[in-house]
Amino acid sequence: MNKKLLDDFESYLHANLPKAPSFHPHFEVALSEMLSAGGKRFRPMLLLSIVQAKRPLLLQNAYPVALGLEMLHTYSLIHDDLPCMDDAPLRRSQPTLHVKYDEVTAVLVGDALNTHAFYMLSHAPLSSDIRMELVKILSRDGGLDGMIIGQAIDCAFEDKKLTLEHLEFLHKHKTAKLIAASLLMGAVICELDAQTKKILYAFGLKLGLLFQIQDDIIDATLSEDEAGKTTANDSHKNSFVNLLGIEGAIASKQKLLNELREDSKNCDEDIAKNLSQIIDTYFKG
Ligand code: IPE
Ligand code: IPE
Ligand code: MG
Ligand code: MG
Ligand code: MG
Repeated sequence: MNKKLLDDFESYLHANLPKAPSFHPHFEVALSEMLSAGGKRFRPMLLLSIVQAKRPLLLQNAYPVALGLEMLHTYSLIHDDLPCMDDAPLRRSQPTLHVKYDEVTAVLVGDALNTHAFYMLSHAPLSSDIRMELVKILSRDGGLDGMIIGQAIDCAFEDKKLTLEHLEFLHKHKTAKLIAASLLMGAVICELDAQTKKILYAFGLKLGLLFQIQDDIIDATLSEDEAGKTTANDSHKNSFVNLLGIEGAIASKQKLLNELREDSKNCDEDIAKNLSQIIDTYFKG
């Protein structure tokens, strides 16, 4: 992938961490800790690679939106790790916030990053129509018709085996919609036509399923040190590895990867080039 794009985004993120000045002993430090700890930045890179392909002069204007997206994603990880959800002590190679501080801090930092994501979108230097459209997409796919209902089902159906149809619903909502939204938000910033937006969203949904299959394989095969997060934590989950077995999950990942490499060719040349770079960077095989 375009290493410079990732480095530029990383610098933008570090220069624009959220602030919460007060006499609270640790809230402001905790607020930025998970954001600055790293992570693959997959979703911002998807958004920015569309902007870079089609309207490179708008990249600066798109950074606040990409950061908002990363804030919403980071909030979802902080809450996902809480004892009431996945009860995980390690994230992005750091102790999770509820372990290092307390649950109150983790819940409220998550809340703050969730709302501040929309602050970032609504203050981006873009037209008000575009900002409104971005807010609509992120609130839908990172919210009720996306990540939230997915997470609710993921947690409610621990130790209850889902049908294949319900399993697809779970992973489409929990993970794939926010990934599809990342590409769509890039397309909205570039004011691409409706047909291209539709193609990118559909591509993103498939890419999101691939991402979750890979994530489930990581849980089953990598150590905490290698993954930088708590692993071997999915035994009660409706994960792809639990459904298909490790061999089946790997085969399914490879099949989707091959399909996506073909699908990327349906996009115009500039987008196709950037999407295939992203696929090569984030998915080996
Ligand atoms: C993990 O997301 C949660 C899933 C949706 C699978 P990432 O794998 O993108 O986590 P970071 O951002 O790299 O830490
Ligand atoms: C979480 O999925 C997806 C979110 C929406 C946060 P996981 O629970 O599999 O993510 P990890 O493995 O803890 O990163
Ligand atoms: Mg989870
Ligand atoms: Mg988890
Ligand atoms: Mg996982």
